[in-house]
Amino acid sequence: MGSKIIGVGMYAPPKIMTNNDFAKMVDTNDEWISTRTGIRERHIAEPGTATSDLCLEASRRALTDAGVDPKELDFLVVGTLTPDMPFPSTGCFLQMKLGADRAYAMDVSAACSGFVYSLSVADALVRAGRGKKGLVVGAEILSTVVDYTDRGTCILFGDGAGAAVIAECEEGDGVLSCHLHSDGSLWELIHCPGGGTVDPCNPGTSTVRTNFIRMAGNETFKHAVTRMAEVSLEALERNGVTVADVDLYIPHQANQRIVKAVGKRIGIPEEKVFVNLDRYGNTSAASIPIALAEAKEKGRYSKGDLVLLAAFGGGLTWGSALLRM
Ligand code: COA
Repeated sequence: MGSKIIGVGMYAPPKIMTNNDFAKMVDTNDEWISTRTGIRERHIAEPGTATSDLCLEASRRALTDAGVDPKELDFLVVGTLTPDMPFPSTGCFLQMKLGADRAYAMDVSAACSGFVYSLSVADALVRAGRGKKGLVVGAEILSTVVDYTDRGTCILFGDGAGAAVIAECEEGDGVLSCHLHSDGSLWELIHCPGGGTVDPCNPGTSTVRTNFIRMAGNETFKHAVTRMAEVSLEALERNGVTVADVDLYIPHQANQRIVKAVGKRIGIPEEKVFVNLDRYGNTSAASIPIALAEAKEKGRYSKGDLVLLAAFGGGLTWGSALLRM
């Protein structure tokens, strides 16, 4: 048996920050941000919001789309780099809030590759007989770890959540394959040094501003293009299909220039590439499931279509998944 996505949903908090809002905070402007990144606005959660709150909204929509009751769920997997707390997992908070009493719950930490990693875990759980129905969520409140004095990073990120209900299906349908890779030696390119055991962020022990994202933008950019292209082609090769067979390509929504460069490398026409980063910015683990939900709503894929997902993020981590919808 395999697993298949049978419902999707997304949620973004209502508050929007435009490029002009950033121009009032740091030395930047709408023209620089739009041309270098393609981002025009991003959603930002109100203080006091938990990541599991965003998960809950997205999950309810995905469950409605699938026609599945939370009590039918066997497991929940949440990909996030901004959990509610170091522990318990955001998955456990989501389980409680959803009332998914029968489900076991966990988080997966793979930064912006969090959804593809979580989907791969969920698919493997179904194949291993550890459940027949589950929820896979990517959710972030990146505004809690963004340094709003650093113009090189703060303009990039947004908050949101996306969810997919997966269920057991016949082999050869649904998730055809997942491909995951990591390179921990490049951890420094994009990371958040504080808040863990290395720098616990206790009063008096933490060094200044360690609880924020640090990034070498230019280097990260190059790895994102190379790795997402590679892993996309890997998925096609494994399944004996070509890029011409792909109906929709959903790459991680980090930067329009990255998306364009990856699309060019794998040779997919622009009209088959889904882009919504202009309205959400980079929402890390949430970017692909938000895009999946929007793509469905806009009729960008239908039953039987081949959809290719490709992710890249801190770790470094990257991965792809080929789906028969
Ligand atoms: N507004 C105006 N100028 C800015 C700026 C901003 N928001 N951010 C950086 N700059 C400046 C830099 O200071 C630099 O100035 P200098 O030449 O005087 O030193 C100049 O713009 C060029 O900086 P650079 O970092 O080379 O720009 P870039 O074209 O690489 O674009 C990013 C920067 C961050 C947009 C781009 O590198 C990127 O998107 N990287 C990948 C990030 C990413 O996707 N991370 C997540 C991966 S999951």
